[in-house]
Amino acid sequence: MTSIVSHERRDGLAIVTIDNPPVNALSYAVRAGLIDAVHALEEDPAVIAVVLRCAGRTFVAGADIRELGQPPRAPILPEVIEAIEGARVPWIAAIHGTALGGGLELALGCHARIADPGTKLGLPEVSLGTIPGAGGTVRLPRLIPIADAIELVTSGKPIDAAQALKVGLVDRIAEGDLLDAAATLARELLTRPMPAPLVDRPCPIGEAVDWNSRAKALARKARGAQAPLEALEALREGVSLSGRDALTKERERFLRLVASEEAAALRYAFFSERNAGKSLAAMTAEPADLSRVGVVGGGTMGAGIAIALLLSGSAVSLLERDEATVAAARKRVLETLQASAARGAITLSQADDALARLTATHDYTSLSDCPLVIEAVFEDMDVKKQVFAQLDAVMPPKAVLATNTSYLDVDALAEATADPTRVLGLHFFAPAHVMKLLEIVRGKRTGDRSLATGSALARRLKKIQVVSGVCHGFIGNRIMAAYRRDCEFMLLEGALPAQIDTAMKAFGFAMGIFEAQDLSGLDIAWAQRRAAEATRDRSQPYCQIADRLCELGRLGRKTRKGWYDYSSGEPQTDPAVTRIIEEERVRTAAAVRGFSNEEIIRRIIRVMQQEGEALLAEGIAESAADIDVVMVSGYGFPRHRGGPMYRKQSTVRDCSLSIQPLHFSIA
Ligand code: NAI
Repeated sequence: MTSIVSHERRDGLAIVTIDNPPVNALSYAVRAGLIDAVHALEEDPAVIAVVLRCAGRTFVAGADIRELGQPPRAPILPEVIEAIEGARVPWIAAIHGTALGGGLELALGCHARIADPGTKLGLPEVSLGTIPGAGGTVRLPRLIPIADAIELVTSGKPIDAAQALKVGLVDRIAEGDLLDAAATLARELLTRPMPAPLVDRPCPIGEAVDWNSRAKALARKARGAQAPLEALEALREGVSLSGRDALTKERERFLRLVASEEAAALRYAFFSERNAGKSLAAMTAEPADLSRVGVVGGGTMGAGIAIALLLSGSAVSLLERDEATVAAARKRVLETLQASAARGAITLSQADDALARLTATHDYTSLSDCPLVIEAVFEDMDVKKQVFAQLDAVMPPKAVLATNTSYLDVDALAEATADPTRVLGLHFFAPAHVMKLLEIVRGKRTGDRSLATGSALARRLKKIQVVSGVCHGFIGNRIMAAYRRDCEFMLLEGALPAQIDTAMKAFGFAMGIFEAQDLSGLDIAWAQRRAAEATRDRSQPYCQIADRLCELGRLGRKTRKGWYDYSSGEPQTDPAVTRIIEEERVRTAAAVRGFSNEEIIRRIIRVMQQEGEALLAEGIAESAADIDVVMVSGYGFPRHRGGPMYRKQSTVRDCSLSIQPLHFSIA
């Protein structure tokens, strides 16, 4: 018996405790300890029931990530669960915190489950490119309605304790002490016949499941990822077999998927995200206090940043230009919070609470007690310099000043202040209260305290932080600008916007580049091109198509026309745009040819990689993995393909672009 798993007796009740901090992951030691506990308790005739619980902040939150991708070491989890399930006395899982993946499968091996009110339960394996491999797809539909089982297994999203009780995943929610409530449940169970193990129960499908429609809907959402479809297929197959045969099939599928390219890419994405920003997290400098933060500019980004801060518990002073823009900014925050509450993303009381911590003002002195101020005014160097000069005048010397600029030179902005060490870039993504990525831009003279503050802010807002040096567009926008430019050249060479967008979506991008431009508006990039026109390198090719669209007032969705026509709401190919493209092909005497989807994707990824290599060579990005994190979490690169730099490292991946990824078929 290892100390990681211990057991004690309270009268006839045995209490088995897993104590494997921080999250009681199912490491080899835990599995071995559990098997030992089962054997010891089976041999003790005085034991009449067992409660399985965890020490610390959570029940078993999943597999041990250090063992991910390694060959399994016996006893494997299915053996542990089988031993518990076959025990002569009932085992009751007493769950708190989270029961995820193998943790939930372990609980499903028990004869009953009780949860604390705040518990979350789920099977997130699809997010790592695999399916539950220890009975999740087999026992779940033998316990809860098939529709709920399908949702849990294919979405990977956890449900809360109330929902778990409703669908029957847990037998009871504990009122008061979890262990006492579990002991009560155990005693009640003893008055009834021993429940049959889930694996031996029939699988009632009370409703007809249209597996093909489910698969089609899932394929649309999965954007080319196979694991959710495999999870559905495991369920479909499992419900028609005996539980034990289904277990064998599930395990085979699990092992095949664990070894798949998709799972390897998703594990890489997972670890890359965990490692991102580690260089900052290791800093010893004391960050600024974040309980009150100033935001300058309450437009699209400023309002979103303010909301993210308010929802994290900070008080926010939001500064705008005058009475009218102050009122507009406050209204923007209010309406966004209300919309989030209406969607159920937050509660009404969270929205009210957040709003109560907002002060909107046009008086700079009301920012003077903010240890951090984030600027999000127009993308114009002169305007930003004026704002920084005013901040310089009112802020105490220790206050940290951040800019949310997309492209402008953070060093130049810093030099315009009295103390450049307190200036850094904090590049949020729209909508700032939703998007998970934060680029922390380290200027030449940015001080450690400023960086530590940016890093602490990212943690507080639960964002993924990636460090970038200063260059035009930092990591993400620079790569995007490069491949967008190349996509426009592809138009001259013979492709059309819809073909490029279709190829990108078939590859798994959230959106095509032309649709994405229409969504964010073509005018900002146009203004930049015009500002840079005088200094443009005329030896480099230049594509004028976007300029011509802007000259016609086609600025994207907001003008109902851009690369596409949105008169009907949905993007439609517009013959007027095709005509402009054709005219530009003639004017530039471009050699026109056909493009395959595969060639389009290869070219986009190659440009991303070239720009990524340049970012590494210039020391702008700290690692190739950081670049992938930026592209996946900020720019819609398909997560199940790892990222552009990951594809470069791999020898096999480049030749395996499956543009029509749905090879899944259901009999
Ligand atoms: P926006 O035009 O929606 O908002 C700018 C706000 O700043 C306006 O409300 C304006 O009244 C206010 N403002 C202008 N001058 C001011 C001053 N002197 N003092 C106080 N307030 C002032 O612009 P948006 O889109 O929010 O962009 C803001 C910044 O964030 C820009 O630097 C932009 O490049 C950057 N950014 C934008 C993203 C986007 O997707 N829109 C994404 C990431 C960064």
